Amino acid sequence: MLLLPLQLFCLARGSNHPPPPPPPTDAENASPVGELAPRVTTAVAPRRFVASAPVPLVLEDDLERLGYLKSVVKETLRLHPPIPLLVPRESLSTVQLLGYEIPVKTRVIVNAWAIERSTNSWERAEKFWPERFITSTSADFRGQHFQFIPFGVGRRGCPTVSFAMPIVELSSANLLYRFDWRAPDGSRAEDLDMSEASRLTAHRKSSLVLVPVPCIGI
Ligand code: HEM
Repeated sequence: MLLLPLQLFCLARGSNHPPPPPPPTDAENASPVGELAPRVTTAVAPRRFVASAPVPLVLEDDLERLGYLKSVVKETLRLHPPIPLLVPRESLSTVQLLGYEIPVKTRVIVNAWAIERSTNSWERAEKFWPERFITSTSADFRGQHFQFIPFGVGRRGCPTVSFAMPIVELSSANLLYRFDWRAPDGSRAEDLDMSEASRLTAHRKSSLVLVPVPCIGI
């Protein structure tokens, strides 16, 4: 979970929120950097107020308009699955797989991290390229597309997929809508070290420190 907002905020932009650029015509050259926050702001117009919180908020029914944000969340889950190795399985019978015999009761550990970076399934597999989910693939994370399994798959798949995603999208959208995110030392998003420490769940190797700058006048 931790890496999700962190990669998202690496894509936030400066404070003056001009209108978003026109959609890229050449996906090869499209860069997500700097596009996310204005896209959220534009999609959420007219601004939303709720009685219990007299500030503009992104609400759940705004999410359907946040297609690019959804692609960024998906691309983050692809490159940084929060559980890189799925829950261990055990084979129920002896099977032949790619010329190997897998005996009954073999413990099987599925490497979601490697699968989601495989060049067999993904174009420009190592590149953070959210546009792929708009222009080049319809792969979804609900267990029907085995090349994209951040929530696992089958009976032991994550039972919360239907509510975990809206929560991630909604909280991220609100943090992007209400704040600009700056590196304290002025470093650029492209220079940040996004490598992971190998643990049971995915964590950044080096801490990400960002300064939230409230957006005035939204
Ligand atoms: C973006 C958020 C989340 C991601 C990416 C995620 C991912 C996963 C993955 C990969 C598995 C293992 C699935 C497998 O081996 O096939 C799993 C299992 C599980 N997750 Fe999540 N999860 C998320 C959020 C949550 C939340 C919020 C909860 C609880 C409130 C939760 C509860 C569980 C439980 C109980 C299991 C074990 C299911 C079983 O073994 O039968 N997950 N999750």
